[in-house]
Amino acid sequence: MKRTDWFAEARFGLFIHWGLYALPARHEWVMSSERIAPEAYRTYFERFDPDLFDPREWARAAKAAGMRYVVVTAKHHEGFCLWDSKVTDYKATNTPAKRDLLRGIVDAFRAEGLRIGLYYSLLDWHHPDFTIDPHHPLRDLPTEEIERLNAKRDMRRYRKYMRDQVRELLTGYGKIDILWFDFSYPELSYRGLPGKGRDDWDSAALVRLARRLQPDIILDNRLDLPGAGDIETPEQFQPDEPPRLPDGSIAPWEGCQTLSGSWGYHRDEATWKSDKQCIELLVRHVARGGNLIMNVGPTSRGYLDGRALAKLDAYARWMALHERAIRGCTMAPPEFPEPNGARYTWNPATRRLYVHIVDWPFQHLHLPGLSGKVAYAQLLHDGSEIAFDERATQVCGHGATPKGAVTLHLPVRKPDVEIPVVEVFLKES
Ligand code: GLC
Repeated sequence: MKRTDWFAEARFGLFIHWGLYALPARHEWVMSSERIAPEAYRTYFERFDPDLFDPREWARAAKAAGMRYVVVTAKHHEGFCLWDSKVTDYKATNTPAKRDLLRGIVDAFRAEGLRIGLYYSLLDWHHPDFTIDPHHPLRDLPTEEIERLNAKRDMRRYRKYMRDQVRELLTGYGKIDILWFDFSYPELSYRGLPGKGRDDWDSAALVRLARRLQPDIILDNRLDLPGAGDIETPEQFQPDEPPRLPDGSIAPWEGCQTLSGSWGYHRDEATWKSDKQCIELLVRHVARGGNLIMNVGPTSRGYLDGRALAKLDAYARWMALHERAIRGCTMAPPEFPEPNGARYTWNPATRRLYVHIVDWPFQHLHLPGLSGKVAYAQLLHDGSEIAFDERATQVCGHGATPKGAVTLHLPVRKPDVEIPVVEVFLKES
């Protein structure tokens, strides 16, 4: 049993970005991008009042969408803590929320049977010992001013603060399945200010601590410590090829994606993906042997807005009928190349091949390399038979079925599901 076995089986999780940035509602980086000083940002701390917070609703929506785990921002770059940390006052219990919001979230998702992951930001724009660097909101102050401020800041104290907080998170909330550290930027520099990486965080100590407190925990790869993470984490793009381990096998990986481009709640963001795009993202991740963690950014009042709920509902409707084509599936063996307009997922245990038909063709779809191998085929959503043939036929002098391929005979009208899937049962080999 590998640490990541349950994770690879699950394939689909929910990311939650929730913090004070839900109030300005214009991206979770607003403090940095608008150069808001910590004292000015405090206005959101004083007004954070999630009176409509009911994490059971979030958890039920995630479960229905077919998600099997959640990763929630315990602390994001702004430095605000959703839990009752003993080493800071900058926490949910001291806002009008007056309670440990993380506990409510963890309990609710666990009650729905989802695994629990915590996101912990290595950056901290609020902590007084975190030195001003290329991402910090104060980076554009006059150089002498920055030097004067940085001289008083002590990253050793900040490193201890991080270890204390990670200890709280990994001892106070039961079994934690994933710890998602974010992120390192050692190569960056701005106005002479260096970026930060493994030495600034003491990444090795964080990894040792996490592994000691929660031996089965899955760690991400953003600590700038090669070899220390369990998963690769491509962000906001779709890898064409999966990352590989030295032995050539697919490295465990999880693509993190947004519904609309922002991670935190963004009121005016208009680039929401369509239902089909959202489902296709899931398919494309699994078709390359990876997981998808799709993000929602709850509002400051604590609910998921209609746009986010509608997307989760689109997943729910599709997953209710197509779960078999996702759960426990991976990239198809190389001898089955994907036809144009379709993606394959493959269940190695049941030896079933899933043909996700992204572009619905006219009547025929040729599956290269499958001649002689197919025992039966059906549309997955309704279990209706799909006829196929595998003779290299000619119609009016044109090749209808290419050599070596199997031709599926599809209904002319696309079935009424976002991405129809044909389940192909292979003959015993
Ligand atoms: C990032 C961003 C961010 C987001 C995240 C999720 O690197 O800083 O705001 O939390 O990645 O992957």
